Amino acid sequence: MVEFKTIHVKPIHSRFGAEIAGVDLASPSKAQVMEIQKAWAAHSVLLFRDQSLGPGDLVQFSKHFGKLDPPPVNEDGKTFVQDFPDIYVVSNVLGDDGKPIGSLGAGEATWHTDMSYLKEPPDASMLYSIEIPSQGGDTWFCSMEGALQDMPEALLRQVRQLHIKHDGTYNSGGYLRQGLKESNDPVHSVGTPHPVVCAHPVTGRPYLYLGRRRNAYVLGQPLQDSEALLDALWTYPVEQHNVYCHQWRLGDLVLWDNRTTMHRRDSFDACARRIMHRTQIKGSHQPRAFYSEETVAAA
Ligand SMILES: [Fe+2]
Repeated sequence: MVEFKTIHVKPIHSRFGAEIAGVDLASPSKAQVMEIQKAWAAHSVLLFRDQSLGPGDLVQFSKHFGKLDPPPVNEDGKTFVQDFPDIYVVSNVLGDDGKPIGSLGAGEATWHTDMSYLKEPPDASMLYSIEIPSQGGDTWFCSMEGALQDMPEALLRQVRQLHIKHDGTYNSGGYLRQGLKESNDPVHSVGTPHPVVCAHPVTGRPYLYLGRRRNAYVLGQPLQDSEALLDALWTYPVEQHNVYCHQWRLGDLVLWDNRTTMHRRDSFDACARRIMHRTQIKGSHQPRAFYSEETVAAA
């Protein structure tokens, strides 16, 4: 059990996630930052309520978790938040020019980890709520360590040395990524393979790594077999007891481990306003297989 002296840590789910109280993220002490990092490794998802963060505060706090990964500029070649190129805006709101001020609109976002199609996917993401609708737009998280624990041994044995190609064609809202061609062919679509079961670089614990379902492909398998395996694997993360639903309040900041969790978002009334600022922490490691030839042979 990890002990904390400078922050208060209260689990929000029986399997993962914790609310952290007693810290102002605009000016945390060094000791608090160290304990937050420890809490993050232990719980994967951290919730901080009642924060008041300007863009500079958010960027500053985010840097305690690694190098930041600036989002692509918008269609006009501008950053989302002037003078803060590291901040990405998730929003359905239109600006004075009639163009969206952010991304993802008001629709549903399906289960995913962020940008798993990269060779080194981001370690973490943070979302900070600035305007929220009165209902809808909840963000759901699931534990990929928990999903792995729930998998039957026979299925684990079948997949533990396999790799999944993580598709890069579409984002979580189903939109085509810039510069890519539409594809519904899992075998040939653009993507990057990662092990099905990875070892967390900090904790060493194993987690199931699925990324997203659309166009995913288990390497070396006939497409039909790959689809059947993926359908079986996707059963476990999204079971009710493995999922936490976050209902946003103003001033919430949620930090999640992009390796040991997946997330999705509910749709909301397109006439309501939702504005969130997001930062992302660059991948520090390529996802590493938990099971090696040696460990499998010894098992
Ligand atoms: Fe996401």
